[in-house]
Amino acid sequence: MSDRLVIGAAQLGQAYGRGPRREPPSEHEADAWYDAVVAVNARGIDTARAYGDSEAVIGRARDGRPGPALITKIRPLPEFDADSDPAAVERAVRESLAASFAALRVDSVDTVLLHRARDLRAGAGRSVTILDSLRADGVIIEWGVSVGSLDELLAALQLPGLGHVQVPYNLLDRRWCEPPVVAAIRSRPKVVIAARSTYLQGILVDPLARSWPGPHPADATELADRLDRIRRALGRESLRDLALGYVLGHPWVGAVVVGARSAAQITDTARLVARPPLTLAELDWVRSELPAGPLDLVDPSRWKG
Ligand SMILES: NC(=O)c1ccc[n+]([C@@H]2O[C@H](COP(=O)([O-])OP(=O)(O)OC[C@H]3O[C@@H](n4cnc5c(N)ncnc54)[C@H](OP(=O)(O)O)[C@@H]3O)[C@@H](O)[C@H]2O)c1
Repeated sequence: MSDRLVIGAAQLGQAYGRGPRREPPSEHEADAWYDAVVAVNARGIDTARAYGDSEAVIGRARDGRPGPALITKIRPLPEFDADSDPAAVERAVRESLAASFAALRVDSVDTVLLHRARDLRAGAGRSVTILDSLRADGVIIEWGVSVGSLDELLAALQLPGLGHVQVPYNLLDRRWCEPPVVAAIRSRPKVVIAARSTYLQGILVDPLARSWPGPHPADATELADRLDRIRRALGRESLRDLALGYVLGHPWVGAVVVGARSAAQITDTARLVARPPLTLAELDWVRSELPAGPLDLVDPSRWKG
């Protein structure tokens, strides 16, 4: 089992990504996508109410059979804040989850995340108490949150019922390696930290073939050269192998969430995840050779275009 690999399904249900192809897979390709997740025995599939038809595509391919663990996310709740009516927040969370279950054709899932960290505070925290009670009732096994900043991670780690956090993490992102952050993560050993955006939607695996967000395209050639020098020095077979080996080299990373558009990408990713990750000494060396990227590049949730 690829127990540190979760396959990301944002690509399944909507136009997505920075590569030449953005449209979602056909029905036939989506079935092959699902079969590939089963074949590589991935730890699970990461989807969300907000990923267009992603949940419905998974539900159709799965067709009610037992299969890989499912991680889904409550729709973002921008209309609520800490002062909102808790009952309205509870209704919104329950309705989102019911819609996810209907689309996925299941009556329980392994993990439910709040899609935005600010939603942890919605309705004086009712969003959290409802997830706690769904877990107590056995409707979900664990709940968590997707975070984008250190403050969000540190605040989430204070919540006793938390079981799972998704963070954007990749070769250019140095934020999560600060000793106080690693100490806070270590203080909650049962919380799974899942790293997403490992390939930066493909920018880190083929910097010259992707459209870059914001004002960075001129840096693409230099980044491609530098990454390739590092790859060769470490004997990694490809930039994908380097990007995955780097993230998985961190002991606090419980899993990587790698987005896939096709069955072939899933098979390739699973093969690379099975390779030895970088050693701690290699991680230090990479950090000394590769400057940190700007925040508005390393976290796709900040991308404007
Ligand atoms: N919580 C959140 O707010 C949030 C935000 C974003 C994503 N996510 C989740 O995290 C998952 C991963 O993030 P992501 O998909 O944005 O970024 P990613 O995993 O960094 O990159 C995925 C992209 O890398 C390329 N790729 C993957 N395998 C490849 C291979 N073997 N060969 C060549 N290219 C390959 C593909 O690009 P092409 O499609 O161009 O081929 C693929 O779409 C998503 O699917 C989603 O489930 C969560």
